Amino acid sequence: MTTITLLPGDGIGPEVTAATVRVLEAAGAKFEWEHHAAGAEALALHGDPLPDDVLESIVRNRVALKGPITTPVGGGFQSVNVRLRRALDLYANLRPARTLPGVPSRFSGVDLVIVRENTEGLYSGIEHEVVPGVIESLKVITEKASLRVAQYAFEYARSHGRKRVTTVHKANILKLGDGLFLDCARRTAAAYPEIRHDDRIIDNLCMQLVMRPETYDMLLLENLYGDIVSDLCAGLVGGLGVVPGANIGEVGAVFEAVHGSAPDIAGQNLANPLALMQSGVMMLRYLDLHEPADRIDAALDAVLAEPRLRTRDLGGEASTTEFTESVVRALG
Ligand code: NAI
Ligand code: MG
Repeated sequence: MTTITLLPGDGIGPEVTAATVRVLEAAGAKFEWEHHAAGAEALALHGDPLPDDVLESIVRNRVALKGPITTPVGGGFQSVNVRLRRALDLYANLRPARTLPGVPSRFSGVDLVIVRENTEGLYSGIEHEVVPGVIESLKVITEKASLRVAQYAFEYARSHGRKRVTTVHKANILKLGDGLFLDCARRTAAAYPEIRHDDRIIDNLCMQLVMRPETYDMLLLENLYGDIVSDLCAGLVGGLGVVPGANIGEVGAVFEAVHGSAPDIAGQNLANPLALMQSGVMMLRYLDLHEPADRIDAALDAVLAEPRLRTRDLGGEASTTEFTESVVRALG
């Protein structure tokens, strides 16, 4: 039996991971789950928010399903999410954001795939105080990381029948760093003549996305732009409760939703588990388990078509567990 590392995380994490495991199992995808604490709980238990055994478990199993983990603002420990992605070199963050049948949103026909560079940029975490009152935060862009994430995006486009990749940057101002990222994307694009490549300056892209999101296909972005534009794109298709994701590298992949730990609704059975369930579907497809993946997709569509059965963030009335049980029933 396939073993999968399960990181429930904190905030709404334990609620949405329990819901997702329930649905995966009900769809007939039987896994051995290796539970691990990470974040504040692991810090209290082991003195480290990301103990070595978590990384070892993911390297051994090659696949993890992960709930969100809270990061203290300002001081406190370094983001566990960022550490995990860097320690395992999970260089591509894949986030499909599409209009779902039955999910209310301002737009229809949105079908975007975001590929975010996941290991460097401003997330390198290199900051220092030059003199009191002056801070430098360094943005690191390397040719190696830029080329491999571009290659991942174009390979994904090719294997998923996508027609166009738009590289997003601020190379007019950050001529060297973003310039290198754009140059690497252009060099990579040359090997994929069937896929159209173009680019947009990030501020213009944001305006265009909120005006005409249906005109874009795949977006390739460095780390911070990808983080921000991911939440923007979630807003185009119904909010953070509906957008799944995967962090992919050579050692394996960690599947998690775009949203965070949502402390405002944690522990109240209110969280929408849909985004993590869809991340679970991405995990099944990564493992070539298409039959249960198709079944869950169909069950989610059937439940979302019924307004009352949706969670409150989507205008419905269902709690996390009620939504989950509706999906299980729809699986038949
Ligand atoms: P957030 O995504 O947790 O929440 C933003 C808003 O969206 C809140 O109003 C929340 O209630 C709502 N929301 C998010 N997910 C939802 C869901 N599944 N169902 C219903 N409503 C949902 O972002 P925020 O508040 O900025 O971050 C909270 C914490 O999460 C921070 O410590 C942050 O660092 C962490 N975080 C962790 C991530 C991860 O583990 N990958 C990703 C993003 C944030
Ligand atoms: Mg984010």
